[in-house]
Amino acid sequence: WHTAWASPTGEAVYLRRVTGKPDEVQLVRPEELAPGAVMVCVPFRESERDDPDKLHDALRRADSPVNLVRLVPGTPVTPRSGQESFNWQDFYAYSRICTHLGCPVGMDLAEEDRLMCPCHSSQFDLHAGARPIFGPAVRPLPQLPITVDETGNFRARGDFTEPIGPSFWELG
Ligand code: FES
Repeated sequence: WHTAWASPTGEAVYLRRVTGKPDEVQLVRPEELAPGAVMVCVPFRESERDDPDKLHDALRRADSPVNLVRLVPGTPVTPRSGQESFNWQDFYAYSRICTHLGCPVGMDLAEEDRLMCPCHSSQFDLHAGARPIFGPAVRPLPQLPITVDETGNFRARGDFTEPIGPSFWELG
């Protein structure tokens, strides 16, 4: 799998909040999310920050948005195998692209510890590494390893853990 934003030079990849204004770059700090909140973000490379064309391109990358989730402190989480350290404290970043057919996944308003896809109602359990627990999706949402660096902002620590989106995307 390939995320278009992954940097071959190892430069910093920050998360920016999706605001609807392509030229507006708002990095994300932990204190901006209350426990139980979710924020839609896209990763972008440090070198794209001052270049409007590159910023627009970064927003158009279909496979990059994530739901940055802050769980309520103390929420029990059973991570998927080998992914114990990909969160930062109570914060987790999961691909926003549903693994069924690619619709945008959001917070389930009825169940605060789940992400839900509006297209066919797949639900993903935030207690268990975003595994599907209802609906037609069979693969978990890929996780983006995150940290907060010395600037106090979220950044990615690497690529997504698994292929983004529906499995048939891999066939293209
Ligand atoms: Fe998400 Fe079908 S696209 S459940």
